[in-house]
Parts: sequence; structure tokens; C-alpha cells
Amino acid sequence: MCGIVGYVGPRYATELIYNGLKRLEYRGYDSAGVAIIDETSGRITRRREVGKLDRLGQLLQEQPTNGHIGIGHTRWATHGAPSARNSHPHASMDGDVVVVHNGIVENYQELRAELQAEGVVFASDTDTEVIVHLIALYLNQGHGLPEATRLTVKHLKGSQAIVAMYAKSPDQLVAVRIGNAGGVTLGVGDGEMFVASDIPAILEHTRQMVFLESHQMAIVKADGYVVRTTDGVPAQLDIHDIPWDAVAAAKGEYDHFMQKEIFEQARTLTDTMRGRVDFENGRVRLPDLELSEDEAQGLERLIIVACGTSAYAGLIGKFLIEHLARLPVEIDYASEFRYRQPILNDRCAVLAITQSGETVDTLAALEEAWDTGARIWSIVNAIGSQAMRLADGYITMQAGPEIGVASTKAFTASIIDLYMLGLYLGELRGVLSPAELRQHVNALMALPDLAGRVLDHDDEYQALAEQLSGYKNFLYLGRGINYPIALEGALKLKEISYIHAEGYPAGEMKHGPIALIDETMPVLTIAIKDHVYDKMLSQIEQARARGAVVIAVATEGDEFIKEKADYVIYVPEVSEMLSPLVTVIPLQLLAYHVATLLNCDVDQPRNLAKSVTVE
Ligand code: M6R
Repeated sequence: MCGIVGYVGPRYATELIYNGLKRLEYRGYDSAGVAIIDETSGRITRRREVGKLDRLGQLLQEQPTNGHIGIGHTRWATHGAPSARNSHPHASMDGDVVVVHNGIVENYQELRAELQAEGVVFASDTDTEVIVHLIALYLNQGHGLPEATRLTVKHLKGSQAIVAMYAKSPDQLVAVRIGNAGGVTLGVGDGEMFVASDIPAILEHTRQMVFLESHQMAIVKADGYVVRTTDGVPAQLDIHDIPWDAVAAAKGEYDHFMQKEIFEQARTLTDTMRGRVDFENGRVRLPDLELSEDEAQGLERLIIVACGTSAYAGLIGKFLIEHLARLPVEIDYASEFRYRQPILNDRCAVLAITQSGETVDTLAALEEAWDTGARIWSIVNAIGSQAMRLADGYITMQAGPEIGVASTKAFTASIIDLYMLGLYLGELRGVLSPAELRQHVNALMALPDLAGRVLDHDDEYQALAEQLSGYKNFLYLGRGINYPIALEGALKLKEISYIHAEGYPAGEMKHGPIALIDETMPVLTIAIKDHVYDKMLSQIEQARARGAVVIAVATEGDEFIKEKADYVIYVPEVSEMLSPLVTVIPLQLLAYHVATLLNCDVDQPRNLAKSVTVE
């Protein structure tokens, strides 16, 4: 969950690392720090500060330090409260070695006791600190930094990403990746090298990226890098050319990344289809899925695994794929799937949906599917991420970097990917005729424009937010393919405004949640003109009869609903299967405006992180 940045090269490192951390702050923002080998003293200087990164920026102005090699970290606390002493980088007792770390050292208490018995004095409450003391012990035995680090990681249990720096080897950084606790990306520059836990941190400097695999380590110097396994075997990794541009990862004219990413959706929907939807021939092509017609026909089950918003996209995928390809779909939270001994075989495909491609539960769910014969697929936004590399086949979201912690454009991109997957499987399995396929493909063409029309009504969502921001509890109701949109709308509201919101299948309201309803609990319903419209009207009646303020997301032209609901949000008419793509946008913006009215930190909500790389 934490963010790591490292640099070695001719430029001054401090500002460069600090700017990289700014782009990773979404990963953790309890505290931050940098360590630099100071160009005048040759010693390591550390600057660490609790709270948001700006405070570290302030400290760096008051106490500047500079040199041509350094590491930095932005923290999401697991072990040890957010405080300056628990901030990374952590240092050895003599201050000559420092490390930054992402992950959890599961056996740190045992290691800490052993180190204390050898006379090591700890300066923090973190699990990370054992790493730096172990490295120092091996350095004192005469090993160089790479070997000392390699020997150290052999002691550690759990998944880790580590970068180490040593004052007496001022030309190198050593980076290690063990398991799925977070990526280690090397950025290859011209006479300079970068290390980061995620692409956006270094994208303004280079597009040439190398991604360490689990149990690999890199020795990084200004003029290049060497990769080995943690058993010391040389390894070759491809250099990826990353297409995202640095401008796409900046806020531009918007106040928040989340706002920018919501507004980008009219464009990202097109980007997601680009190269895969063939409008001319009325077909979809997903070559990266690596699936033949025979294999598609042999499939008996698809199991979708994901977390949070990605899991809600998966629920929509169940509707789409079962309908379009007549393939039974199960959906499970990755964190549950991995512990329930799922029944898998070579007639199944397991599909992970993950924006970051680094969510530890989702990766572990994929691991669960290994060796069962099941085909492993991923829908993923972060190019080169673990979920992409672990899969037999993948579909990229092509949504560009998503920085706001609350996921928005990745959600709609995932739905398009799932729709394309449904069409592709539908064709390969002989379920959809060419004419049906063409009709579905044509329906996709209008989507970016429809999303743009919804976004044009932002001032109305803001006005509605002003009416609603004083309430403490909300109930979101949807049915059918819009039931997951009720879940997602409620999740968006709670995660960025800290208002309690429940998403529920509308038909279930009368089986329990109705007891909560009174005039203090607004009920937001998705009541578009679909095959369950009449049923939704009954649920609206039932909520109103209990005094609730009712907000309805309805189809343009539906005048009748105005008599039933207190507030109506109109969305353009669209096929039922594609309706989630237009119904979700007003709910994203409603949550956004409520949160800004309440002065909440929209892009970095408390306690959350963008990539959840710990269990
Ligand atoms: O990167 P992933 O898609 O795997 O992330 C999954 C969830 O952690 C993520 O969707 C989370 O629920 C977001 N905060 C939702 O806005």
C-alpha cells in the first residue's frame, strides 16, 4: 500500500524523489520520508514527517539535503502508529544503511527479539526496521549491499518490496520483490535509473520500464541495472514501453483527480473499445485473451474474483456474460475465494478484475487457481502489473492512470471490457448470430456520447448534493443489472464522504432494511425504464410511505416518476445491458459533491489506499 521512489544519476535526487512521491501519495498518506547520500558529507541524511506529503515538503525546505542518489517513501501504516519515528526510510544504528519497504514482515517479532538479543537497539515500532538491521549485520560480516540484502530477505516471511541504500556504496540501490506486496518498477533513463512501486511516480522521466517478478532483485546504478533471482541466478526481463503520458497523470483544470477521472469517462469509454471493437465488421477482437474457438466452446464456468468496486463490476459482468455467451458465471470476493477451497478444473476460467493489478487478495485468488487446470484471465488497468503477468490471457482497461483512491473510470472501463468479453465468447461459442453481434456492437458506438450527456448535468448533481449533504444515512436500491450500481453508488458515498450508505437489491428492502427507513434516511433508487421498472415503482411507494426522501435515477422522458420521487436524476435512454454505464455517473458525481461540501479529502480519504497490497 505504501509508495516507494528511488533515484540514481546525475540529477539532484531530493526534489525528483519528492515529486515522484506526490504521484504515489494515493497509495498511503500517513507519513513520508526521504533519505539521500549527501553530496558534501557523503553521509546519509534522512528527513521524515508525519501526515500528508506537504509536511515533508515543508521540512525539506527548512532542512535541505541533496545528492545524486536517494530513496523515498509514503506510508500506509500497518505496524506502528503514524509518527515521524515510524516513518520510512528506516536506518541502521550507525546510519549507514537505509531501507524503504512495502508489505508486512510476518515474523518480525521473532526477528526483532533475535536482533535485540544481539544488542540491536530499535528506533521504531515497525516491522520494517528488522530488515535494515539484518542488512547491517551482513554488511558488517563483509558482504556487499546486494548480497547482504539477498541474505536478509531469506529471513523474512510474507510479501515484501524493499529498496536499500548504503553510504559506503554510493553508486547503487538494491531493490527486491518477494510475493505480491506491491510492484517494483525500474525506470530506465539516459545515464540515470529510477525505482518506484508504481509507474506514475517516474513516468515524467521515462517510459521504459522493467517490472521485477517475485523473488527477484535488481542492482541499480546510473548506467544500468542487473537482475537476479533471490537465489543469485541471473535473470532477463523485458523492457516495456509504457504508453501513458505524464500529463494524463496530472490534475489539469480540475480540483481533484476523482473529478477529473469522472469527467474523463466520455473519452475513456472510447479508449477502452479502441483496437478491440470493430465497428465496421460488427465484431470484437480480444487477441490477448489467447482463446481458441474450441477452448471457448469447452468452457463450462467462469468465476470472477475481485475486490471493492472491481467486484461490483464483476456482478455486472455476470449479467452480461450469462446473457451474451450463455456461460454460467460465479462471482466472489477475492478475499473469500482464496480461503474456501474453490472447485476448479480445466473447463473453468478464473477472471480477476483489478484496476491496480496489485491487490494482494486478488492475486492470491489467482494463485489459488494455479495448478487446477483452470484458465486464468485478468481485466487490468495497470500495464505490466502482476495480475497481467500472472494471467494466461488478459484484457486491458485502457483507462489511463487512475489516481483518485475512489475508483470511477476504471469501473466503467471494466464494464466495457466485460461486455466485450461477453460478445467475444458469445461469438466463439456460437450463441450470437452475426446480426445479433452487429446489433450489440452498434449499441456500443453511442456510449461515449451518452456518457458526455450525463456529465453535462453536473450542476444539477451539485444542487442535489446541497440538499442531501446533511443526512447521516442513505439507502441505495437497484434491481437486475443496476443492483451493482446501487452497491457502487453507496460505496462511493461512504468512502469519500464518510456518510453511512447501504446498497441493496430493491426487492430485498422489505425483508429487513425497510425497518431503518424514516424521514432521516433518504432512499436513492435506480428506476430506469427496464423490465423491472414497475417493481421499482412499488419499492419507491413503500419507501415514501415510511416518510423517506426518495431520489430516482430515471430515463429521460419519464414524466410519471416525478409524481413518485422527491428528486429525479434523468439519464439518456440506453439498452438495459449498457444502462449501468450511464446510471453510475450521476452517483459518482453526487458522492463527489457531497464529499467536497463536507470538506472531505476526496482524493485521499482517511484509512484507504489505492492499491491494497496487504491482507
Ligand atoms: O485495484 P483493484 O481494482 O484491485 O482495487 C480493488 C479495490 O480495492 C478498489 O476498487 C476499492 O474498493 C476502491 N477504493 C473503490 O473506490
